[in-house]
Amino acid sequence: MNEDIDSLVHLLKSTRRVAVLTGAGISAESGVPTFRGKDGLWRRYRAEGLATPSAFHQNPKLVWEWYDWRRGLIASKEPNPGHKVIASWENIFPSFHLITQNVDGLHQKAGSKNVLELHGNIWKVRCTEEGSVSENYQTPLNEIPPRCPDCGALLRPHIVWFGEALPSSVLQKSLLFSSSCEVMFVVGTSAVVQPAATLPYSASEAGAKIVEINPAATPLSTYADFSFRGKAGEVLPLVDERLRTASEERKD
Ligand code: APR
Repeated sequence: MNEDIDSLVHLLKSTRRVAVLTGAGISAESGVPTFRGKDGLWRRYRAEGLATPSAFHQNPKLVWEWYDWRRGLIASKEPNPGHKVIASWENIFPSFHLITQNVDGLHQKAGSKNVLELHGNIWKVRCTEEGSVSENYQTPLNEIPPRCPDCGALLRPHIVWFGEALPSSVLQKSLLFSSSCEVMFVVGTSAVVQPAATLPYSASEAGAKIVEINPAATPLSTYADFSFRGKAGEVLPLVDERLRTASEERKD
């Protein structure tokens, strides 16, 4: 790990364009459950029955009860050192882009400004009639299912469900930033859900170095240039500390 971190920091010293792709694992140390980990959500709940358009169509109350529970859980959580390092890197690298699969909003809570949310945001709701999107931080929700204050139609979570397309502008930007970065960090994702899982390969094909951080191996691990078996909230601060020390030494 130490040698690898040193050679990574050596690479980062001359790097200007960085992209970071995160998944549920970066929020695990904040107490937000992952999806496929040991106590992951999809081990406890059937995704088909809660995170699909047909599930919502059949039983919007049940789906909202589940999202209301998740919002309540996430509302009490704080960003961890992993989120904070990523937020601070916006000021270190001239070109820095954060692409997340997470809907928990913890990157923004840590101070990240330009966050590309591939799968939406749990603190946003969308009118099923007008399509208008608005923020809603009410936990617990007063009314389940909640209704649009303008037209009274059902509101739905502004989240990309299984079987739904990602917002094309967000996906286009993610592909652009992936294929134009020099280094891509892939943090806390099982790297199996598409199209997000394709981004590191697009980056690598465009010449970028891939840096994976995950306590467990993923399909990306053998492909990555660096694959750190560790927790995001521990490995990222280590890299950050060495990077800052190196740039101090360079100044002296
Ligand atoms: N630090 C880094 N990685 C971690 C940590 C940690 N502290 N704890 C767990 N992980 C890793 C796990 O080993 C696992 O590989 O995070 C990964 C989480 O994987 P998933 O639960 O599959 O989450 P994710 O990859 O984000 O899922 C992608 O699937 O369910 C949909 O829309 C949902 O955005 C989600 C998408």
